[in-house]
Amino acid sequence: MVARVGVLASGSGSNLQALLDADLGDARIEVVLVNVPGARALERARSAGVPAVLVDHTHFPTRADFDAALLQALAPFALDWIVLAGFMRIITPVVLRAYPDRIVNIHPALLPSFPGIHAQAQALAAGVKVAGCTVHLVDEGTDTGPILAQAVVPVLDDDDEVRLSKRILEQEHALYPRAVRALCEGRLRFDATGPKRRAFLEGFGGTT
Ligand code: GRF
Repeated sequence: MVARVGVLASGSGSNLQALLDADLGDARIEVVLVNVPGARALERARSAGVPAVLVDHTHFPTRADFDAALLQALAPFALDWIVLAGFMRIITPVVLRAYPDRIVNIHPALLPSFPGIHAQAQALAAGVKVAGCTVHLVDEGTDTGPILAQAVVPVLDDDDEVRLSKRILEQEHALYPRAVRALCEGRLRFDATGPKRRAFLEGFGGTT
């Protein structure tokens, strides 16, 4: 069965491009929604022949209005999965309720370390020797949802934020399409026996 995917992006959209270029099995990217006019992600969607929708958050007086517009724009595509690819807006409970356990994000750090913005700079400042990226389900917190998959990147002695971010991004481009494909193949499982509900992609291995 085809899994219908919507990708939400705000910026350059290099992860979107990786998803567009990958073999996602039976998953199909039905729409790309962008909240920033002129974002490169819009262009990438159009070049790939995927419907691109702009919902400019600055046009909405309240967060609730933006959420309503977002949900309305996505509704016609009857999506099974929402994939965040550098979408720089918090996902609110209204949107989460519309797609329960159906929204996934990639974050450029080994969560639960370094959530939020400037994750790579946070990692460098902490002096960690390994960094990486995490694919996780989205919940009401910032980068706190159940972890699905991670890839590790060594931190080199002479790394700066730009160099480390670039190496992490390369891993993101490999990890995210694999994880999205696995999700769309129905391989998501939960274990709710511990204090925090954990998630798995069956047969995925969790890390690369
Ligand atoms: C990536 O580093 C991703 O981990 C984070 O936002 C960035 C998006 O980059 N959530 P791009 O727009 O996909 O190039």
